[in-house]
Amino acid sequence: MAPDQALTVMDFEEAARRVLPPAHWGYMASGVDDDLTTRANRDGFAHFRLRPRRLVDVSTVDLRTDVFGSTWQAPLFLSPIGGQKMFHADGELAVARAAALRQTTQVLSTATSVPVEDVARALGAPPWYQLYMPNRWDGTERLVRRVEAAGVPVLVWTIDLLGGRNMETAERFRRVDTRTCTACHSSARGGRTVDELPMLSGIPGGMNPPNATWEYVDRLKKLTRMKLVLKGIETREDARLAREHGADGLIVSNHGGRATETGSATIDELAEVIDGAGSQVPVFIDSGFRRGTNIFKALALGARAVGIGRPYVWALSAFGQPGVERVIDILRAELTLTMRQCGRLGTDIFFARTNDPALSGTSSRTIV
Ligand SMILES: Cc1cc2nc3c(=O)[nH]c(=O)nc-3n(C[C@H](O)[C@H](O)[C@H](O)COP(=O)(O)O)c2cc1C
Repeated sequence: MAPDQALTVMDFEEAARRVLPPAHWGYMASGVDDDLTTRANRDGFAHFRLRPRRLVDVSTVDLRTDVFGSTWQAPLFLSPIGGQKMFHADGELAVARAAALRQTTQVLSTATSVPVEDVARALGAPPWYQLYMPNRWDGTERLVRRVEAAGVPVLVWTIDLLGGRNMETAERFRRVDTRTCTACHSSARGGRTVDELPMLSGIPGGMNPPNATWEYVDRLKKLTRMKLVLKGIETREDARLAREHGADGLIVSNHGGRATETGSATIDELAEVIDGAGSQVPVFIDSGFRRGTNIFKALALGARAVGIGRPYVWALSAFGQPGVERVIDILRAELTLTMRQCGRLGTDIFFARTNDPALSGTSSRTIV
């Protein structure tokens, strides 16, 4: 299969499975424990149905979206994925080149295999940067200063892994991988030490401090002028706290089911998070998005934009840059088609709190 023969982003999953060694495939595909949250993310979209409106002039549909004063070409971004050279030799640089061509926001992981400065050059502009907070505050200061100096406009702090996690599927695949991990990794289990990650070199003490509290949001706000977005919010209560502590945006995310087991689909959590965030704090979402209809449902529930993770990594694994471009093209085309079919001309399709819903559903109380 060539990238342009893919009919849906799901076609890239099998293509990736064929080229990746078991340990890398397992790491990417894994959720936690029995992978139930990962599955729930996909199942959640069936809880909402589209309510198409007829005889609307849909000859022109506009996907552009305003995010923090910038105009995005579509309400879609590339969620942070660590260590992309494990999927393709060009790693984050291939993704940056695809994102540049398709004018799509790339969120670079702290666990990136390419430094932020090099990604910014390939992208033609600094990416958004996802923070895994170093355990020592002086390390956080150093990392945030470096990222700020690279011109990054938005810092995305991921807060859903502070309690640790159990990636059982990843471990099972690692055990059947016959390669010698130490040929590429410093650890025999295949893990990277912090010193192997270019953004963390020279920053001692590990990351994801389990003692972090909301006070750390205040500290980060004081430390940087970058916008601060919190990734991993799943409840109304936390959305409210995030707003009170000055977060500039939220991402409803369960890390693609890689954080907490037996959680809900993020699409089922979206309305309550938006409720807690209030009207001034933009809410983004990821986890499980594979179709234009999935994106449409999030927009109709009030999300500003949607992130994708595994689909672009599948495409990167199998085809490098052209694969990532094709994934973006497919999702934009599918979203455009859904908007036309539903009689919605722009991405501002938030009808969930009016009497004219674009959706019907049972799991969200804001849908009437
Ligand atoms: C292999 C892999 C690595 C990831 N690495 C990171 C990371 O470094 N930082 C982060 O905030 N999220 C990370 N995520 C989570 C993604 O940003 C995103 O939330 C998730 O992939 C979205 O779900 P989806 O894969 O179903 O689209 C990772 C996800 C995967 C699959």
